[in-house]
Amino acid sequence: MEPSLTVISHPLVQHKLTLLRDRATSTAKFRNLLRELSVLLAYEVTRDLPLTARPVDTPLAHMPAAPTLEGKKLCFISILRAGNGLLDGMLELIPAARVGHVGLYRDPQTLEPVEYYYKVPAALDERRIVVVDPMLATGHSAAAAVSRIKRDGARDIRFLCLVASPEGVEAFHAEHPDVPLFTAVVDEGLNEKAYILPGLGDAGDRMYGTK
Ligand code: URA
Repeated sequence: MEPSLTVISHPLVQHKLTLLRDRATSTAKFRNLLRELSVLLAYEVTRDLPLTARPVDTPLAHMPAAPTLEGKKLCFISILRAGNGLLDGMLELIPAARVGHVGLYRDPQTLEPVEYYYKVPAALDERRIVVVDPMLATGHSAAAAVSRIKRDGARDIRFLCLVASPEGVEAFHAEHPDVPLFTAVVDEGLNEKAYILPGLGDAGDRMYGTK
């Protein structure tokens, strides 16, 4: 299967992303921009959702077949902690979506991802899933989170981030060629501490005002 990468190049997304990158952007502004961006990203990541039809009575006429989303339930899965910054905006657009959380840290000895939190809705195999994390850096935690939900039956998965590195895209696609990737940009690459350049810094720290 040919791996899929969609770069969401909408001008509003690109403009807001530049504001987000700016080191002078305050925590409050950062959070707000991230929420606005996540609405726009959610719009793009759901662009191909299948529609069905149902009858509806407008004040003026009966419509026998008005478009409506097909039944399969959407589920957003946030990779802690920065993934949570994308949830609010996405839930504004799709309030009925279910939400799961995956927490992973990298073991300093083995460098393997270790799970410290995992809570997801039941019947993942019946859901259309969007895994979210603003930054796809090495791609290791994203790939590990997707492997974890696949073990619970998830099949219809897409991955949404804001900034990706070329290394992250390659590593993620090597492990999960079946999972389409969506991002607003693919940046230059990683520095020696696995931060994305030029990137926007540590998304979690900027979002929560920590260091
Ligand atoms: N996580 C971040 O928050 N920023 C990066 O640049 C890389 C990983």
